[in-house]
Amino acid sequence: MSVNALTSIADFEKSAHEKLPDFAWSYYSRTSDAGQTYQDNIEAFRRYRLIPRNLRDVSIRDTSVTVLGSNLAIPVAIAPTAFHRFAHPNAELATTKGATAMKTGMVLSSWSNHSLEEVAEATPRGIRWFYMLFYKDRNHMKRLLDRAERAGYSAIFLTIDSPIFPFSTGRPAPGAIPVPLRFPNVFDEEPPHAIGTAEYRQCLRDAVKEPATWEDVEWVRENTRLPVVLKGILSADDAKMAVERGVNGIYVSNHGGRELDGVPATIDVLPDIVRAVDGKAEVYLDGGVRTGTDVLKALALGARCVFIGRPALWGLAHNGEEGVQQVLQILTDELSLAMARTGCSKISDIQPSLVVHQSYYG
Ligand code: FNR
Repeated sequence: MSVNALTSIADFEKSAHEKLPDFAWSYYSRTSDAGQTYQDNIEAFRRYRLIPRNLRDVSIRDTSVTVLGSNLAIPVAIAPTAFHRFAHPNAELATTKGATAMKTGMVLSSWSNHSLEEVAEATPRGIRWFYMLFYKDRNHMKRLLDRAERAGYSAIFLTIDSPIFPFSTGRPAPGAIPVPLRFPNVFDEEPPHAIGTAEYRQCLRDAVKEPATWEDVEWVRENTRLPVVLKGILSADDAKMAVERGVNGIYVSNHGGRELDGVPATIDVLPDIVRAVDGKAEVYLDGGVRTGTDVLKALALGARCVFIGRPALWGLAHNGEEGVQQVLQILTDELSLAMARTGCSKISDIQPSLVVHQSYYG
């Protein structure tokens, strides 16, 4: 191994910072307001400590897990993030290949530079899910749902923590995007305006439904055969309402600290949500996952799998498809080692008793 090999997610963050142009780095690393929630996502994991069980045969560890009916080799998948083209010319095609090489899944963002069909063709045997926006035109939504189903996406993810489209905050300023972008999963036909201009934003405003409500979720539920996941849940009551409406997956997320600042770290609300869901849907988590022990803690507290946002983009920026694969490999190796050290040879061995909150110490 070269002395310069990257061996941690922090190394990939540093490399991405060095390699990415300013506009891309600042878009990817942006947080809301003072970034309190972003920081808390990361720090909260450190407030949980592990109580290992020893003298068990952990010579072979199996990290595989089933998510929405698909077998993943690792309980770590890729969250939907916009604008992969900022990190690498092959954009989402590289990300999906990196995920597929690690036998895990990726949620394709509606803000992908490649059509959902192109991404499917890049990884015919890949595990893929589609994050769809809510639109005013239900025919457009129905067409997208059918396209996703035909192209082999195996679930629809609906993000519910962005009730108002963030037209002004965090989007690159007009003229600040020196790479070609297009959004074939948002528009049937690209608007004839430059991205970032007032005219382009108006086209988005005309198309996107804001805010979406439970009625829109119910409509999606009734208009696709695919499982539906709600992303952005932080409230146990919302989780219960989702389950009552037949939602298949509850995805605990605060958008990586990019929406409402001041909301709790995801790992802190996870146990309440797992209790509220009571096994009636799968529960996932993202936000601040940077090490294998973070993954272990989230699984111990009831997540079926975790998702990574920025770390995948850092891998993509470092080295395209291979970088994404390396990031996932590091988390896999760290998780496997953490499992050995806590006496777990399979995912179902990872139980709540492995974790205590720091308040345990009084
Ligand atoms: C996001 N996220 C996001 N979420 C979503 O539902 N749809 C989207 O299009 C995007 N776009 C997006 C772009 C960028 C640059 C980032 C960093 C994030 C949020 C994402 O899915 C996820 O919730 C967080 O990134 C998880 O936190 P970490 O892993 O980045 O700490």
